[in-house]
Amino acid sequence: MINVLVTGGAGFIGGNFVRYALKKHPDWRIVNLDKLTYAGRKENLSDIEQDPDTASRYQFVLGDIADASVVDPLFDEEKFTYAFNFAAETHVDRSIGDPGGFIQTDVYGTYVLLEAGKRNDLKRFVQISTDEVYGSIDEGSFTETDLITPRNPYSASKAGADRLAYSYFSTYGMDVVVTRASNNYGPYQYPEKLVPLFVTNALEDLPLPLYGDGKNIRDWLHVDDHCSGLDFVCAKGKAGEVYNIGGGNERMNIEITGLILKTLNKPDTLIKPVEDRLGHDRRYSVSTEKLQSLGWKSEKDFETGIVETIKWYENNREWWEPIKSGEYKEYYESMYRDRLDKAS
Ligand code: NAD
Ligand code: DAU
Repeated sequence: MINVLVTGGAGFIGGNFVRYALKKHPDWRIVNLDKLTYAGRKENLSDIEQDPDTASRYQFVLGDIADASVVDPLFDEEKFTYAFNFAAETHVDRSIGDPGGFIQTDVYGTYVLLEAGKRNDLKRFVQISTDEVYGSIDEGSFTETDLITPRNPYSASKAGADRLAYSYFSTYGMDVVVTRASNNYGPYQYPEKLVPLFVTNALEDLPLPLYGDGKNIRDWLHVDDHCSGLDFVCAKGKAGEVYNIGGGNERMNIEITGLILKTLNKPDTLIKPVEDRLGHDRRYSVSTEKLQSLGWKSEKDFETGIVETIKWYENNREWWEPIKSGEYKEYYESMYRDRLDKAS
């Protein structure tokens, strides 16, 4: 068995990756280290824990990646071959209100993992970075050698971790690869992010708070394509390199909003233009030529994938309703109440 560490596997992308990787690699055993913050849900992987094909190859460990007293013994005991670092504070709006936790987890936590990997002769450390580290681009697409100019506390923290991971390659010769993916969509995404927030609000006939003029552009990547890209980079990527992973599906937020309403047969009057996000990046776009030249490409047709995703939230109310009726309510009020009041 190949022992693999996944951090943040109780979250959106990490959880989808655990499911993907256990099915793809019958010789992988995955340890999922997760702190279970507001964004982490152990139940996201209950199917994996119950399936006889995967149950014995999956282990959940509750813990903080920034806590060396948890991370160090885990590395010593498990002798991991690969580590995939998904664990992070991930929501830009939360980082604007309270950046400290982002620096602690995204930067310091990555440092704790890198140190443990270095001491334990890890074969490959995959740092899951983001296209947001490049900052905004009006025209064209960022390539991996472009300067990084992150513009909010979340992306700046991720940029710190991204370059810290690289430094363990350039300084200590550790095998590190860094990926920078675009906006993911798919099942199990916490309903603070655009797609699940707007789908679940529309299902509840609540307003869809669209920031600014709604013309900001994101490149949408199905989470399964992100998972296949990460698996590919682990197998075929070169140590010390950065790889962009994009979907090639650039859409304005207003277009995504329209698609959601049309799919759910809800009226456009639910759209509420509200005060913009501070420092709101206008457009993200990455070139995926580097990864494509090695043989990877995204597979999911966007129009199909987004409708499947919208239907998933429609058919899995038992997943998001308890989230939205819990402590989330406080978050939602503080984030949106003033904006919605001003807009009406
Ligand atoms: P998420 O917020 O859904 O999940 C994050 C997970 O990390 C949660 O399970 C949480 O409990 C866990 N976590 C947080 N702090 C931790 C800590 N200190 N120790 C251990 N676990 C901790 O995030 P996501 O959207 O799945 O993103 C996963 C990774 O992918 C992140 O590194 C993010 O920066 C990156 N990324 C996300 C996107 C996207 O569109 N969502 C795109 C590109 C890259
Ligand atoms: O690009 C990759 C990044 O994508 C990841 O690194 C981040 O972890 C992830 O959160 C995401 O960041 P964004 O800021 O692009 O995603 P978010 O879903 O928060 O917002 C997408 C767009 O929708 C953005 O232009 C802001 C807008 N938006 C978002 C929310 C939550 C709204 O108009 N209204 C909203 O209520």
